[in-house]
Amino acid sequence: MSENTIKTIKISRIINECKNVKTIIFHNSTELRPNPGQFVMVWVPGVDEIPMSISACDEVNDWAITVKNVGDCTQALHDLKINDLIGVRGPLGNSFDKPVNKNKNIFLIGGGIGMAPLRFLAYELNKSNQDFKIIQGAKVESDLLFMDELYEYDRRNSEFHFCTDDGNYGEKGVTTDIFQKLIKEYTLEQLKNTIVYSCGPEIMLFKLFQICVKHDIEFYASLERIMRCGCGICGLCALDPLGLLVCKDGPIFNSKQLEKIEDFGKFKRDFTGKKMSI
Ligand SMILES: Cc1cc2nc3c(=O)[nH]c(=O)nc-3n(C[C@H](O)[C@H](O)[C@H](O)COP(=O)(O)OP(=O)(O)OC[C@H]3O[C@@H](n4cnc5c(N)ncnc54)[C@H](O)[C@@H]3O)c2cc1C
Ligand code: FES
Repeated sequence: MSENTIKTIKISRIINECKNVKTIIFHNSTELRPNPGQFVMVWVPGVDEIPMSISACDEVNDWAITVKNVGDCTQALHDLKINDLIGVRGPLGNSFDKPVNKNKNIFLIGGGIGMAPLRFLAYELNKSNQDFKIIQGAKVESDLLFMDELYEYDRRNSEFHFCTDDGNYGEKGVTTDIFQKLIKEYTLEQLKNTIVYSCGPEIMLFKLFQICVKHDIEFYASLERIMRCGCGICGLCALDPLGLLVCKDGPIFNSKQLEKIEDFGKFKRDFTGKKMSI
């Protein structure tokens, strides 16, 4: 069975993460296994087919997606119950390049629902005894995701930092403030040994990219664009001027690629393909 075949899947568990975010878990009985950063196209019959990052995959091939309710299809996903059926196509796209060297200083930086693919990455890094630092940002406390799980990593050898816009919980401010504070005293050698994996609002990703380029830090960002086919046919997710496709060449891009993508941080396309400001 190929990645592009739609499989009918029964929902086995649903977790209410916060007011407008739910995690939907299903068993995938194929031999396919995703890597952190990859996504699936999720089809709700009669509604739409939309991209969703894979937020978990465990040893028995139970996969999870974590869905923020923003429109028709995400609302339909939120309305589903255990044992309901959905169509799933994937895993699609590329994944976060895992560090070859175990001594790398790793940051996972996520904003809002951007924590979904980073949660899967944290799980895999922890499984291979790799320590990391997570920075999560959210508008308000109730939007923070996967808190128990992330605190658990903090209790072992990794670190967990978080911030909210209003400062009612965690630090007041944004993820880039915390990141800059943490690397402030780094030597040139430490900066060279650092890797940042990020996902979230593109404004945050662009700021992180600028900081990382300035300090010569290895950087990866997961980009979001509206998708139709999810597999390189329709061109809706193309990034100018190189025509890189978020669904096929991405969704993860490194700083060398991002430097050449003029759309990055500036433009995205609507459902008709017309460009608009981010
Ligand atoms: C690779 C990838 C991974 C994603 N992972 C997740 C995830 O893990 N969890 C999650 O909740 N969301 C994720 N998204 C975003 C998600 O696909 C959109 O929120 C969803 O398609 C909206 O569908 P809708 O029918 O509910 O909204 P619509 O009614 O179609 O639109 C509501 C709003 O969402 C915007 N929108 C629609 N499609 C997208 C899109 N593909 N990307 C960004 N904005 C969009 C519209 O412009 C509009 O402003 C991901 C997107 C991509 C490209
Ligand atoms: S979504 Fe169709 S080419 Fe990327």
